[in-house]
Amino acid sequence: MPEPSLMGGSMSLSDKIKQMRQEFLAELQAGATFKDFENLKVKYLGKKGPVQALMLELRNCSAEERPLLGKQINDLKEEFTLLADENLTRMKVRELDDRLEQEAIDPTLPGRRRYPGRVHPVMQMMEHTIEILQGMGFSVRLGPEVDTDYYNFEALNFAPDHPARDMQDTFYLNEKWLLRTHTSNVQIHTMEQFTPPIRIVAPGRTFRNETISSRSHVFFHQLEALYIDRHVTFADLFATMDEFWSKLLGEKVVTRFRPSYFPFVEPGLEVDVRCTACRGKGCRLCKQTGWLEVCGAGMVHPNVLKAGNIDPEQYSGFAWGMGIERPTILKYDIRDIRQFWQNDLRFLSQFP
Ligand code: PHE
Repeated sequence: MPEPSLMGGSMSLSDKIKQMRQEFLAELQAGATFKDFENLKVKYLGKKGPVQALMLELRNCSAEERPLLGKQINDLKEEFTLLADENLTRMKVRELDDRLEQEAIDPTLPGRRRYPGRVHPVMQMMEHTIEILQGMGFSVRLGPEVDTDYYNFEALNFAPDHPARDMQDTFYLNEKWLLRTHTSNVQIHTMEQFTPPIRIVAPGRTFRNETISSRSHVFFHQLEALYIDRHVTFADLFATMDEFWSKLLGEKVVTRFRPSYFPFVEPGLEVDVRCTACRGKGCRLCKQTGWLEVCGAGMVHPNVLKAGNIDPEQYSGFAWGMGIERPTILKYDIRDIRQFWQNDLRFLSQFP
């Protein structure tokens, strides 16, 4: 019994081959995607597909017909493969083209401008100051911004009723804790941790409950210097001050020392340098006085040494504390201290 042919029993194998070719070509025409052609290939040329079925039908043909029909089917197979593959390649190329187009860049467009960060002018001044003092043998110590009343006041010889402890000036967090009002708290921390000789510089942020204006702010920066050793005298302080301020202001400066009072030094001083703008003649910068007030200083009070477990009979020392904003303002002629902390790039980008 001859097997029933796939496409109607009455058709000859040769006609079936022709018809299948037509059908394949029609489907090939309709194909639009890579997947379409892939499916087409599987559908016609798969092991259980119609081309394979035609092969099986060869068995029913006469011996004379068989070689010719067999060749026709093989040709069909080859043609289908070729056409399908051609389209698969075409699809792949189109896909790549699309992607290239999507990912295309225009090298003629101007580049994006980058804005590299800059070091804040106050920090520049701080770093510069620290470098000078490191060159003079001081090493950097950092202390806490949140500290206790003990380190900020008591150990620094502030009497319990000293006005600086008043709520008006100090930001208290509670009975015990506060925001340090100066970097002098690092003096005590350092004395507790080291034995003389001590030669440190302590930079940092300080806080005071003041009305914010063009000249003062609730936070600012200070730098504390402390030197303790045997036989440290007033002369050492004077010489160090002269050297330090000359290096910082970039010329040989004239210093002036006025007696002043800080509980943690005795004697205490206010240090002025001769105005760098008018050289003492009097100008807007020095408010016609000819002098610029630059720091507080003095010989470390024996009570402070004792609080730091250092024997005042054997050791003595000097300390000074300076604001950082002040010399920065002088250097750049800045009129309003608030500009430092407003994060306005038009202001900040002026300090390369
Ligand atoms: N701590 C003082 C202040 O904040 C400055 C100072 C430091 C004075 C060290 C003398 C010695 O004003």
